[in-house]
Amino acid sequence: MHIAIIMDGNGRWAARRGLPRSAGHRAGARAVRRIVEAAARAPIDVLTLYAFSSDNWTRPAHEVTALMRLLREHLTSEAERCIANGVRIRVIGRRDRLSDELILAIEHAERSTAAGRGLQLRLAVDYSARETILRAAGVERTGDCSAAAFERRLAAAAHADATHPVDLLIRTGGEKRLSDFLLWECAYAELLFTDCYWPDFDEAAFEAALLQFGHRDRRFGGSTAPTRAYAVATKSVRPQ
Ligand code: FPP
Repeated sequence: MHIAIIMDGNGRWAARRGLPRSAGHRAGARAVRRIVEAAARAPIDVLTLYAFSSDNWTRPAHEVTALMRLLREHLTSEAERCIANGVRIRVIGRRDRLSDELILAIEHAERSTAAGRGLQLRLAVDYSARETILRAAGVERTGDCSAAAFERRLAAAAHADATHPVDLLIRTGGEKRLSDFLLWECAYAELLFTDCYWPDFDEAAFEAALLQFGHRDRRFGGSTAPTRAYAVATKSVRPQ
């Protein structure tokens, strides 16, 4: 099972408390740690988190700098914890606009967690689904137009190992849109939108989302007896 999350609401979380937006992003990073640990305990294969979209470059320079620093620090500090939990880290998205320091941190995190056989954690950084699709389609013609061949090009265009269809897409922060995230992969994703700001999204909220997913009927465009999204939620994701 693949869960993708658009982590929205850090800025509003901070504003409510009279704090700078960077404090919201730091609280967001703490939520990332909680949810990764919860996901690692659940029967989830892949978790993709939208950490920085290609459109986020238009934010004020100080906010971009703070986000980039946070990403670098997070990758550095979390690698050990991920190794201990069998979590494999991959960063998807463009790399040519990232700083050398961040690229080094990404490469280190990917290398040091490469043996992880549990959850595959994918952080989307400088990621744009539309750009990824365009780049994949622009690769020289091979004569093979199958979806599988296209998906291999799509994965390569995002620096991913493969293209994983999303089962459940969660967006926090109250907005109801995809914001150029995993457009191909979300073809049959169940969408779950919550008003909860990302920094407040905890294990209980994550478990509730999995429960809701378990009650969705998935037909993948067919008209036969619906398939209940499997009972992921029967297993607790909270710390015992
Ligand atoms: C959207 O909230 C969030 C982001 C643009 C960045 C997400 C980053 C994190 C959760 C923290 C760092 C990530 C990792 C993986 C360590 P917003 O700023 O748009 O919030 P707003 O809509 O309330 O203004």
